[in-house]
Amino acid sequence: MQNRQVVIESLPQDKLELSNFAMRTEPVPAPGAGEVLCRTLALTVGAGQRAGLQGSATYAGAPKSGVVMGGSAVARVEASESNSIAVGTLVTCPAGWQEYSVHEARAVNVVDEVDDPAHHLGVYGTNGLTAYFGLFALGEPQAGQTLVVSAAAGSVGHLVGQMAKIVGCRVVGVTGSEEKCQLLTDTLGFDTAVNHRSPDFRGEFREACGDGIDIYFDNTGGDILGGALRRMKTHGRIVCCGVVSQYDTGAPQPGPRGVPGLLVNNRVRMEGFLVFDYADRYAEGRAQMRAWVEAGQLKPLQDEFQGLEEMPRAFIDMLAGGNVGTRIVRVAE
Ligand SMILES: NC(=O)c1ccc[n+]([C@@H]2O[C@H](COP(=O)([O-])OP(=O)(O)OC[C@H]3O[C@@H](n4cnc5c(N)ncnc54)[C@H](OP(=O)(O)O)[C@@H]3O)[C@@H](O)[C@H]2O)c1
Repeated sequence: MQNRQVVIESLPQDKLELSNFAMRTEPVPAPGAGEVLCRTLALTVGAGQRAGLQGSATYAGAPKSGVVMGGSAVARVEASESNSIAVGTLVTCPAGWQEYSVHEARAVNVVDEVDDPAHHLGVYGTNGLTAYFGLFALGEPQAGQTLVVSAAAGSVGHLVGQMAKIVGCRVVGVTGSEEKCQLLTDTLGFDTAVNHRSPDFRGEFREACGDGIDIYFDNTGGDILGGALRRMKTHGRIVCCGVVSQYDTGAPQPGPRGVPGLLVNNRVRMEGFLVFDYADRYAEGRAQMRAWVEAGQLKPLQDEFQGLEEMPRAFIDMLAGGNVGTRIVRVAE
């Protein structure tokens, strides 16, 4: 049996290109003692993977070419040399961009059978948990407060905004097109949304923020962070989740002006986090989000590509804002 893989052919010098990736075929590996062979059903692409290729995600180590591109999959166990995981079990695993992967049994997560296994890569996966813990552990939302979230129609952002609405916040989304703004307000219940590509973004953003921002959930850094910093209320919180505006480039801009002066004057807390910090509380986050999903209060959105060979295109298009919700690539039935 053959295992198709997508490998990093070369590291990007500036914008990521299709030519940075190549397809390769190898024999399917056999699991050793204590290991399982997983067949990839679906993969997701996340913006943070571009930071990994840039070398700015220090937790991911130094990027290198000639290896299978990393990534999270939902998969079925196809063969098992472990007493703890049976053939047929549904798991999530760090498969990388390939059809089959071998893992130590303790390195895969057994997950519930849900209507669509791909939800384990979105709302119940890393990005859902990032939204949940970033919002509740760092943002500390209270009913009546104003929350602004950037990359608001993306995988993390669309969940942050909806959960902030559930607990009674006034929610402002910042996203990259009029269609996405409309989706946020009409389908997901955001109070208002602003297009960061609008020629009058500054004025529209100022107006949308009303009397100021209590919580800014920052997925983008860059000019949107700069604008939010100037609109923070006293004792506001800036949740530093990621810097997607500065990933797909060889020359990232420095941080915005006003740090630390604006933080001092307004007693604003600006704090970064990694979702892994909350690993011992994942079950709590998943259970709460599942309850909201099942009650119809939280709508996880995903969009899809078909076929492993589409991974590079799905990734590059997501970085350019082509996605709504979590981007999924289906690899096998
Ligand atoms: N801290 C953690 O542990 C952790 C874990 C997971 C993810 N993250 C971070 O969460 C953020 C969102 O990741 P995701 O995987 O959910 O991606 P995503 O939001 O689904 O996709 C990225 C989005 O970024 C927006 N974007 C791209 N370039 C932009 C620019 N120059 N200015 C403004 N927006 C831009 C695009 O939407 P528009 O159409 O709206 O422009 C695009 O859809 C990233 O910063 C990622 O690093 C952090």
